Amino acid sequence: MDLDAVAARLGVPVEDVDRVHRLAGDRPSAPLPAKADAPAILDRLAVRPDDAAEIMEGWPDPGSPLWIPELRWLLDRSIALVRADLGGHDWLPPGPALPRARGPAWRHLYVYAYLALVDVATGYHREHGITDAVSGATLADLGRNLAVDRRMHREGWPVMQSWLTLHARGGLYELGRLQYQRGSTAIGLHIPESGPMTPEAVAASLDEARAFFPRHFPDERYTAFSCGSWLLDPQLLEYLPADSNIVRFQQRFELEPYEEPEGLDADVEVLRFVFRTLTTPLDRLPRRTALQRAVADHLKAGRHWYWHRGHFPISGR
Ligand SMILES: CC(C)(COP(=O)(O)OP(=O)(O)OC[C@H]1O[C@@H](n2cnc3c(N)ncnc32)[C@H](O)[C@@H]1OP(=O)(O)O)[C@@H](O)C(=O)NCCC(=O)NCCS
Repeated sequence: MDLDAVAARLGVPVEDVDRVHRLAGDRPSAPLPAKADAPAILDRLAVRPDDAAEIMEGWPDPGSPLWIPELRWLLDRSIALVRADLGGHDWLPPGPALPRARGPAWRHLYVYAYLALVDVATGYHREHGITDAVSGATLADLGRNLAVDRRMHREGWPVMQSWLTLHARGGLYELGRLQYQRGSTAIGLHIPESGPMTPEAVAASLDEARAFFPRHFPDERYTAFSCGSWLLDPQLLEYLPADSNIVRFQQRFELEPYEEPEGLDADVEVLRFVFRTLTTPLDRLPRRTALQRAVADHLKAGRHWYWHRGHFPISGR
């Protein structure tokens, strides 16, 4: 196969195509669900009607003119690449970021891959005795991410396409208010956008996790919960009241010595999570909440935000 030609047709770097080619090899792919079943599946995955309509429009029907052979190759090999790491829990890009403005097939290629992997993931969940409720809540992060990406004018997807392979590989679970990523000795906490994170909701979710992991992953031994986030930047204490949910969340953690995270600009991440834009000039950002005002004023003053890591014992706090 001529990888240069594939990369040129896809409008992506040849290294990215080569990586898919190497990691997927000739490993098994997985079929997409039947098109007739797709609307109900998308609904279960919390995909909103406008996103569902686009996904149906770009469906990879055999012979669809929207799907050039290189796109079909990428879809098939991306599914194989992710499937080959079933049970993995590290960050795994499923393939290159595509020029999504070229149409729904390009825009949603990794959504079709996710849909093909839903059965694989639920099978893995069942093998681990995980309830349909947890499985369903976990996989429904797809709809939430698509909705956020739409609000972000499609700026969010390059990260989301990698993020969602955690769900598809059984590496991450949504238990009440928080999501939990399996790891080596620590369980990673993630906070989805689903309303305020009250201390009560966080405590209940942590209790759920304390029971969940020994029950469903008895061979894994966890000693701590960990988190890497803009939410752990102590500078937020300069701006937010002591009883705010973010400050109370921070108080659970012992911060690790600061290390610059590789390939991640915390200022950009704060804009992502607080404004859902990466490109709006600071002067045009909304100032509706205390946090929005704090973030913009901080950056306008020439200061920066930092991505901190912290942890606390499984048994504690
Ligand atoms: C994490 C999150 C749930 C915290 O929200 P919360 O529970 O309302 O937090 P607090 O109680 O500390 O909020 C304090 C103030 O900041 C505001 N605020 C908090 N998070 C905000 C956000 N993401 N965008 C805009 N304003 C926000 C609140 O409205 C409040 O301001 P107000 O008193 O003027 O209304 C929320 O920030 C969120 O949904 N973030 C997106 C997901 C995310 O960042 N995950 C972590 C990725 S590493």
